[in-house]
Parts: sequence; structure tokens; C-alpha cells
Amino acid sequence: MTLPGVLLLDAAGPEAGFLATAAAVRGHQVHAATTAAAYAGYGPELRGLLAGRVVTDFARPGRALDEIAVYARRHGVGAVLTVNEYLTSLAAHLCAELGVPGNDPAASRAARDKAVMAEVFAAAGVRTPYTVLVQDGAGLRAALADPRVGFPCVIKPLSAAGSAGVTVVSGPGGAVEAADTARAAVGMHKSGGDPPILVQAYAAGTEYSIESLTQDSTTTHLAVTRKWVTGDPKRVETGHSLPVRLPPAVEAAVYREVEAALRASGIRHGASHTEVIVGEDGRCTVIEIGARLAAGQIGVLIQHALGIDVWAALLDVALGRPAALAPTARGYATVRFVTSPRAGRLTSLSGFPTTGPGVPFARLRAAIGSTVHEPGANGHRLGSFVVTGLDAAEVEERADAQLRRIRIEVEPHHHGEPGPAPDRSARTDR
Ligand SMILES: Nc1ncnc2c1ncn2[C@@H]1O[C@H](COP(=O)(O)OP(=O)(O)OP(=O)(O)O)[C@@H](O)[C@H]1O
Ligand SMILES: [Mg+2]
Repeated sequence: MTLPGVLLLDAAGPEAGFLATAAAVRGHQVHAATTAAAYAGYGPELRGLLAGRVVTDFARPGRALDEIAVYARRHGVGAVLTVNEYLTSLAAHLCAELGVPGNDPAASRAARDKAVMAEVFAAAGVRTPYTVLVQDGAGLRAALADPRVGFPCVIKPLSAAGSAGVTVVSGPGGAVEAADTARAAVGMHKSGGDPPILVQAYAAGTEYSIESLTQDSTTTHLAVTRKWVTGDPKRVETGHSLPVRLPPAVEAAVYREVEAALRASGIRHGASHTEVIVGEDGRCTVIEIGARLAAGQIGVLIQHALGIDVWAALLDVALGRPAALAPTARGYATVRFVTSPRAGRLTSLSGFPTTGPGVPFARLRAAIGSTVHEPGANGHRLGSFVVTGLDAAEVEERADAQLRRIRIEVEPHHHGEPGPAPDRSARTDR
């Protein structure tokens, strides 16, 4: 019997690599839809896993859909997956086109475009920050004067990711600059014109994300993750830890809100990552939803803390088979993101952890001599590592100790030398 083929939309990055491996070891032929430029960066290991590839241009989704569908039919593809935030809507359309399990294509923009997200959440009664779509200076002034927004407020792009271009603004003074920052943060595909931005009421509280898998519109929550972010005007993720055990009443309220958000964004088959803020009163506000497995090694955390084979589970959901989602371990895991203290040229980096007992994942992606940035978006990370163990406090201490051992030396760019290129690659960390 020939097993159905598995198609990954963009196979770059560790998460896609884990998925490709899981599919290949189960005997599936693994295919990738990729751009020519991205394929050039695929390493030998990944290339070796792939049975084939279709080269396309994701910036033209209509054409990409047609080209990939033709390829998928020809190669007996029975499952389509992506871990790329920018491709979740294309994945939904492709699944519908091929008749394989996937999300509702008509609703799929809600998980990509934060203006649509705010609209569908409001219509479905999901608690979400009051949001104004701003086109120009007059719109910005009107939004800032709107008592439903107030200060502090948050100014952000519509559809970037990785915290790029998101600023918490404490008063009218910083708003124009924050708006420019949001406009400059382009997503995976740059389009012409001055993009609109969002001005949002600020939700105060503690940040979590909920990692869920939905099959036939029934959702299992795999874990609640504590999300660590900088307290600066630019909110940049510094790490994640899981599982968090919320008080039962709070957890129930959070899950209710998340499930309403999932329904509103048409998530029927597949992983999701929902970011929430829980206020002191225990009320949950949904900040955003992603129709994909969380980035930032959260899949690795779930695997090692809870013993759930997330990659196999994702594959089963995409194939329409029952997935094994029950935890088989009661551990704890955390990831730390390593960032540069300043912008410039990375001259040395030492003390970076290596994988071993209690450190299942360590990935340094910055090369010596390369240009590094102050942390302004997830794409500025130099690397990341995961620490696991049975005791939450001990795991956090060990991770912090590892982080302190890392020595980073950066030479500032001097006047007249080529400075750091503007960051046009605001992508989720993968
Ligand atoms: N309305 C809000 N109230 C309070 N904090 C917010 C709000 N919106 C965004 N933030 C903060 O800014 C961070 C990034 O915002 P958001 O998640 O919308 O952007 P993103 O680019 O999708 O980020 P990422 O991909 O890192 O999740 C949030 O995790 C949160 O810390
Ligand atoms: Mg976010």
C-alpha cells in the first residue's frame, strides 16, 4: 500500500525539519513547496529527506495555489502542513482545493491579518483589545483621542510577526515614531504603498500562550506557556516556559475564550498558538491567534516536558487520523533566546550551551563577523536553547545560569562603514 504523500509549505527551520523527519520515518514521501531562494538555503539533511519539491512564489498566492495543487495531485499528496506563520492561509486554501483535512479557507485571513482578527473576534464576542485601523496621520490622531484606546496603547503592523514593529506607547509623544516603525515592519511579502497600521488598547496582566490541536473542530489544549517578554516599549520575547498550571477557574475561562477565538478564525484541523493576557481579575484577553504550531521551540518544550510527540500528532491530524495527545511525562521545559547587547559586528561568542542531558536543543544561528542588532524583533536572535527537568524552579535557574555563561562581543559599526541593513526579514523565529 502506498501511503499518502505529505507536503510542507516552506520546509526551512527546525520545526519543519522535525515534521519532515516524522513523516519520512513513518514511510511517507515528503514534498516541499518552496521559493527558489529558500530552497538554496536547505541543508543536505533536509534535501535528503525530501522526495520532491515544487518551486513557487508565495508572494503571488493565487498562482502559488494553482502550481502547488497541480504538483500535489500529481504526487498523491494527502496532507498539507506549514509551520510558517505567513503561509497558514495558503495552507487552508490548498487543503480545501485538494480535499484534505484543513482549516476553513474563508475564515483563514483572521489568523493572519490583525485587523480582520479584531473584527471577527469582536463579532464572535471574544474578549480582545479595542482596535482601530489607521490609514494616515489624521486617523492616528483620531485613534489616540478615542477613549476606548487610551494610554498606554499599542501600535502594531497588520500582518508582520515576530514582534517586529510592535511598540507600547505611553503617551501621545511617541505615537508618530511608533506608527512609522509599524509601517516599516513588512511581513514576508512586501507590497507597495503606505500600509495601514493598528492602534490598540493596552491589556494589562500576565502573558501566556495556549498551544492547542484541533481535529474535526474538537480542540485539545496541550499546554499553557508562560511567555517572557522584555518590558521595553518594544516587546520582544526572551523565552517561554511550560507547562503552566493556572488556577482551575482561570484555566477554564482562558480555554473558553481560546475556543471561541479558534472557531471564529476557522480552525478545524491543525495546530494553533493563541496569545492571551490574563489580568489581575483573572479575565482573559486574546491578543492574537496563529493557525500553526507555536514557533520559538515551543514544540520541543511540549515534547520534552510532556512527552507528547507533537510532530507525529500534527501529521496525524493533517492526515485525518486519530492523534495521540495524552501527556506521557510530567516534566518542565524552558527556552531562552540569546540576543545581542548592542548593534554592530559580532566578533566573538563563547559559552553557548551544547545539547546533552537536560539540554535537548541548542541552536546558534549567528555567524562570527555577521551584523547583529539590538533585540527589536524575534529575527534578531542570535540563537536559542532549551532546558528540561522535573522541577520548574530548578529548570529556570539552570537556564539562567547557562545564559550568564554566554559571552558576546560586538564591535560597533563606525561612521562611514556600512551599517546594519534595515530589517526587512521580519519572520517568526524558525
Ligand atoms: N493590546 C496589547 N496589550 C498589551 N500588550 C500587547 C498588546 N498587543 C501586543 N502586546 C505585546 O506585544 C507583543 C507582540 O505583539 P503581537 O503578538 O501582536 O505581535 P507579533 O508580531 O505577532 O508577535 P509574536 O510573533 O512575537 O507573537 C505581545 O506578545 C505583547 O507582549
Ligand atoms: Mg504575538
